[in-house]
Amino acid sequence: MRAPLINSTTQQTPTPVYRPRRLRTTPALRDLVRETRLTPAQLIAPIFVRHGHDLAIPIRSMPGQYQMSPDRAAREAAELAALGIRAVLLFGIPARKDSCGSENADPEGIVPQAIRAIKAEAPGMVVISDMCFCEYTDHGHCGVLNTPDRDDYQPQLGEGYLLNDPTLTLLAEASVVHARAGADIIAPSGMIDGMVAAIRSALDAAGLSHTSIMSYAAKYASGFYGPFRDAAESPPQFGDRSQYQMDPANAREALREVDLDVAEGADILMVKPALAYLDIIRQVRDRHHLPLAAYQVSGEYSMVKAAALQGWLDEQRIAIETLTAIRRAGADMIITYWAKEAAGWLG
Ligand code: PBG
Repeated sequence: MRAPLINSTTQQTPTPVYRPRRLRTTPALRDLVRETRLTPAQLIAPIFVRHGHDLAIPIRSMPGQYQMSPDRAAREAAELAALGIRAVLLFGIPARKDSCGSENADPEGIVPQAIRAIKAEAPGMVVISDMCFCEYTDHGHCGVLNTPDRDDYQPQLGEGYLLNDPTLTLLAEASVVHARAGADIIAPSGMIDGMVAAIRSALDAAGLSHTSIMSYAAKYASGFYGPFRDAAESPPQFGDRSQYQMDPANAREALREVDLDVAEGADILMVKPALAYLDIIRQVRDRHHLPLAAYQVSGEYSMVKAAALQGWLDEQRIAIETLTAIRRAGADMIITYWAKEAAGWLG
């Protein structure tokens, strides 16, 4: 018999190569080599609070989300705590809106009431107060506008321009009120230049040097906020927010924004939205050593909810996949409307 042309032994044992599939063989092996962990302690739950008692009003554009009265928000916080969630982020819907958003600085305003209720029922919960004026102003912009009736009217900026420094004064004042009510963290979200420094010095001057600041450092002018404006009843009555929020086309500018907030004394940085800005999350993570938050915003949630309600995709799988991707990009914590459900799924 003729010898085979190719030695069969050699054929069966090719040069050893690394075979990545070896470590994917069983669930235990996959868990062992998993690089990114997702736990309830890394999730922050947003809560929309409004005046009233025993209210939980569904938000049409965000299935599964509610506007709650302070008592219901407090109960919700206790349930979240039981699931291992450590922090809530409060948004207030005021009783009345006016041109300068006065309720935001009222010690009896909706957010201070909710903070006290939550602290009473879920004492260990970290309470973060979103600090912005768009929910409180009748024009829906994030601060004070340039109008001819003002002494400091600046015609060259045009009517309706958001005035930076007068807004800083109001942000500082309202932050002290929320911190005195018991907020652990103030989270300025308006992209007003100098907001972190103004809030830091006001807090320090008021004896609140222990109150932290989580800065919405790189917040983009995004279409993904659409459903939120329904939830917080805060759409701008004219124009949009591109004179203060960032252009989605810019990445280097985000790093300049973040550098400024670090220099001004921010304790936690934030990038917002999350999924369309994973490159920004990664760059900020590599550049600074402060804790980094990412905000998975209303549109990121609602588009998946809507598709899931049609039966077009698997909500749980996509929620966990996107949250994991945001963690992998470098976020330490994620603000997400899935916080409660995800904490349940993660067990
Ligand atoms: C307020 C604020 C907004 C969001 C968080 N804080 C709205 C906006 O900037 O228009 C959006 C959150 C979300 O879409 O989930 N400035």
